[in-house]
Amino acid sequence: MMHSFSSDKIPVAVLGATGIVGQAFCLLLADHPVFELACLTGSDSRANQIFSRDINWHLPLAMPDYLKDLPLSCFSMDELSRKNIKIVFCALPTDVAKEIEPKLRDSGYFVFSNAGVNRLSLEVPLIIPEINASSISLIGKQGFPQNGFVVCNSNCAVSGLALAVAPLIKFGIKKVIVATYQSLSGAGYPGVASLDALGNIIPFIPGEEDKIGVELSKIIGHEIPVSATCVRVPVLFGHTEAVWIECEQRPSEKDIIRSWNEFSYNDASLKTLPDKPLTYHENSNYPQPRTAFHGNPFGMTVEIGRLQTTPDGFKFVLMVNNLIRGAAGGSVANAELFVSRYGECL
Ligand SMILES: NC(=O)c1ccc[n+]([C@@H]2O[C@H](COP(=O)([O-])OP(=O)(O)OC[C@H]3O[C@@H](n4cnc5c(N)ncnc54)[C@H](OP(=O)(O)O)[C@@H]3O)[C@@H](O)[C@H]2O)c1
Repeated sequence: MMHSFSSDKIPVAVLGATGIVGQAFCLLLADHPVFELACLTGSDSRANQIFSRDINWHLPLAMPDYLKDLPLSCFSMDELSRKNIKIVFCALPTDVAKEIEPKLRDSGYFVFSNAGVNRLSLEVPLIIPEINASSISLIGKQGFPQNGFVVCNSNCAVSGLALAVAPLIKFGIKKVIVATYQSLSGAGYPGVASLDALGNIIPFIPGEEDKIGVELSKIIGHEIPVSATCVRVPVLFGHTEAVWIECEQRPSEKDIIRSWNEFSYNDASLKTLPDKPLTYHENSNYPQPRTAFHGNPFGMTVEIGRLQTTPDGFKFVLMVNNLIRGAAGGSVANAELFVSRYGECL
């Protein structure tokens, strides 16, 4: 049975829909009020495959019914134009994205990318709406509205760190030290070999540590010195991060928790954003990656706990869902932001 598309929604494509971030997109786009998933692509080997029959579903929530009969295709611009698609969610490996994303932009498509390759380009917005929604205007530097554009969301570990740090900038942050405990799903599928991962910890994630400081600084809007150590742990979903902050002022624990609790972004048209992006746990046993898919919308809330003051600042632990807030959910929220600001161009 073919899926029928309602005419009042905006048709969108997910490139890399068979991968683990691609699957998170498919989950988030089920019953989306604005977007309708009209095209799912995988690599060339996926031609003539059917989503439910031919992929391994990796997420801990059930595959939505609407996906079951959807056909997969391999990527082609002709397919996008046949389906009247302008908005493209990209969950492709970095080397593939590096080639395809500029081509899509130059052909007039609006690309919401998860790949690391364009994030630091000066004319590419790197957005977490609660922090820097106004940087969406950078799409003008790429030639929009005459041309297409690429908008990026941050590295998954950065997304949680930036949201926890942004409300605390007013205390005069001098330095951030972070140790990450990153889940296996962060490496995609098949990702890390089971013999390396099970019952083990791998103390190096290639390229990861260098991204943290530069992406955090771009999102916050000024340079913040960061020292990061990134480690892969045998957890399926959710990145945990231990964070130490050195700062000029000496806020009390109460001041810091109040700043987190009051942090929000008021734009009801961004349906994928939770009312409050941060939850503080008084219970010292939390946050835990076990609750990575909790919340409404699921996986979009960054959980924080274990706040303690130190002689030169404070420290805490956070947990972010790397696939939802750190990837697909961040990207869908950015596309909602684009539609709310520039919807007349669609
Ligand atoms: N995993 C995370 O937590 C996370 C977080 C933030 C950002 N990201 C970024 O998101 C992107 C996707 O990551 P992932 O973890 O979902 O990876 P993944 O599980 O390996 O999925 C990769 C996807 O790309 C497709 N693909 C591979 N080679 C292709 C080609 N030559 N042409 C067209 N499609 C191709 C795959 O299709 P087949 O199934 O047919 O091979 C699959 O759908 C990466 O750039 C990654 O850095 C990931």
